[in-house]
Amino acid sequence: MFKKGRDRETQGYGDWVRAFEAERERRARRGDPAWERGARLPPSLVRSLQRFQVGEDGDGAELLGKAARAGDAQYTAAAHLFVAEEQNHARLLALLLEAGGARTLESHWSDTVFVRLRRLLGLRLELLVLMVAEAVALRYYRALRDGGADPLLREVAGRILADEERHVPFHCRRLREGFARVPRPARYAVTGGWRLLLAGAAVLVAVDHGAALRRCGVTRSVFVRDIVASSAVMAAVIAGRDVTFAAPAVGTGQHGYPQVA
Ligand SMILES: [Fe+2]
Ligand SMILES: [Fe+2]
Repeated sequence: MFKKGRDRETQGYGDWVRAFEAERERRARRGDPAWERGARLPPSLVRSLQRFQVGEDGDGAELLGKAARAGDAQYTAAAHLFVAEEQNHARLLALLLEAGGARTLESHWSDTVFVRLRRLLGLRLELLVLMVAEAVALRYYRALRDGGADPLLREVAGRILADEERHVPFHCRRLREGFARVPRPARYAVTGGWRLLLAGAAVLVAVDHGAALRRCGVTRSVFVRDIVASSAVMAAVIAGRDVTFAAPAVGTGQHGYPQVA
């Protein structure tokens, strides 16, 4: 849950490093899903997963370079662990596609645009763009976990979703600090603009992945509505309002992300 107060903001990113490391160890102990079970994936889901797989894939060099230049060793360490989790998502989705007898894509225009856009930006704006992807991903993987017909699909989506739920408060905290010295009206303009950008991206993804979402029992309008609703608390945290995500609870898989009903 999120909570009132700003008490954790001066404590550095040690708690995040520990949470990411604990999750890495938990992941290693748990091992991979049973790929040999195979997966039955309808064509709409294959197309959708292929595009998300390309989006998850990437070395994160831009982000890590910017994080390093920001000069906070703990944040940089946490960002490395975050990038490793995203790379693991790409790996899981590739193996899921393989289990379903499908291939991965070399690239997709939406990812190329996204990567070029992020390259042009500083750390704060890059994180805002990244947060668009994270907020969309949260709803997407939840739809797959809760409504997917295939057990392997649901398991992979559940694993990825648990990570994404940790990524959101992690980025929100960094963004909150990054915008802390910006005058309040400008901060609200930035977060308002971010919510509009997110709403636009949610519509695009709903159109592009509508058939796959429908297979999982989520209509396009519900998908967009839930994403827009979920962005309110994220924007409030980033804008520095008197609310923040709870710190990650190390080793429990718990996180500070408030669930969207
Ligand atoms: Fe991801
Ligand atoms: Fe993520």
